[in-house]
Amino acid sequence: MSGLKTNNRAVKWLDSRLPIVSTMNHHLVDYPAPRNLNYLWNFGSLAGIVLVVMIVTGILLAMQYTPHVDHAFDSVERIMRDVNYGWLVRYIHMNGASFFFIVVYAHMLRGLYYGSYKAPREVLWGLGVIILLLMMATAFMGYVLPWGQMSFWGATVITNLFSAIPWGIGDALVTWLWGGFSVDNPTLNRFFALHYLLPFVIVAVVFLHLWALHAFGSNNPLGIDAKGPQDKIPFHPYYTVKDMFGLGVFLIIFAAFVFYAPNYMGHPDNYIEANPLVTPAHIVPEWYFLPFYAMLRAITFDISIPFTGIVLIEAKLGGVLVMFGSIILLFFLPWLDSSPVRSARFRPLYKQFFWLLVIAAVVLGYVGAMPPEQPWVTVGQIATAYYFIHFLIILPLLSKLERPKPLPASISEPVLRSGNQSTEKA
Ligand code: HEM
Repeated sequence: MSGLKTNNRAVKWLDSRLPIVSTMNHHLVDYPAPRNLNYLWNFGSLAGIVLVVMIVTGILLAMQYTPHVDHAFDSVERIMRDVNYGWLVRYIHMNGASFFFIVVYAHMLRGLYYGSYKAPREVLWGLGVIILLLMMATAFMGYVLPWGQMSFWGATVITNLFSAIPWGIGDALVTWLWGGFSVDNPTLNRFFALHYLLPFVIVAVVFLHLWALHAFGSNNPLGIDAKGPQDKIPFHPYYTVKDMFGLGVFLIIFAAFVFYAPNYMGHPDNYIEANPLVTPAHIVPEWYFLPFYAMLRAITFDISIPFTGIVLIEAKLGGVLVMFGSIILLFFLPWLDSSPVRSARFRPLYKQFFWLLVIAAVVLGYVGAMPPEQPWVTVGQIATAYYFIHFLIILPLLSKLERPKPLPASISEPVLRSGNQSTEKA
């Protein structure tokens, strides 16, 4: 632990009994970080800030919200119309959810591009995947709370997926999840309880995530380990200032949505109160779930033993397995990609396949928003197939076949070399 640089006697007194100030100092001020981090390294701290904003606005909303099927929709309308600045708090929370996913998806793509999931950061990555799963569960349950048409029908479709589990287990499980025989008041109540609880579980996992990060320090765009003090700079002021600048840019874009297009990313049907007797024409999830929704719907056929007609996996269960499998797969990524070179900068083939994966994800997102008709069904199946082939076949093969470009000797070497050149020219 680094020494405490203060003469304040009260701080010294506290710190000798509970070393909170020196711990913060160690992790946020003196903490040595690679000197070459680019703006893609902003998204982690940004995700942390958005998480806090979501918890604060969520608590404020909970003070005015009523988790009952007869009152939930009206209580949200009351927040929008009668509660002081209720509209602002709700719009920040609503758009905050979308922006949280934008930030975390960018954070993950950065990790994929620069190989941040590789040894010794496998646990850090795995904790990230757990955070993603928790975020998805939280967002799904949060969307049910306003008790609009999409809330109700989205919850009905997604909870019903569990009924695909065979031998009667699925049906029993769904009844247990609902607390009854359909999505109803007990479901809304437990979703509210869990939606309030899970963000705090996420906070706890984020602490583990940062603990794992600080055990080895950050990766960097070159993907090589720092060789000594010349490769590092203290977190403060260099990265605190860079993070604050990034936060400023983020807030401008975020405010533009909150104030000028607050419902852009939402669905108009959710301003109609839930009605179990009227099914909306198209049930679509929030945009951040669309790629996974497309994978769920990609399996349109039963998987059976050829020439026997014996069905091994019914289409519905297949879709569920593919959808959950697409995330579970990420836990194994550090072992599927065993190339010793981390950064895509030095992996010419991996770089191309990385962009193909991004395209597949965008295509899946588009297909997820379309009705389940041709050509979208086939396009979705091709993109789903690419997603799995990318991780299960291409990455293990590339680890063996690709010839990476030569790595620089250290992080500071290319910088200092060009620095010398510019001095020479001058
Ligand atoms: C609430 C959500 C999250 C928060 C608050 C968070 C926070 C952070 C922070 C502050 C850092 C250090 C700064 C940076 O490298 O950007 C970091 C690093 C990292 N995170 Fe996250 N994270 C979250 C979700 C995720 C997810 C979903 C994944 C992947 C599945 C992930 C994977 C990683 C990895 C691999 C690193 C190390 C990056 C490197 O050193 O190059 N994180 N995270």
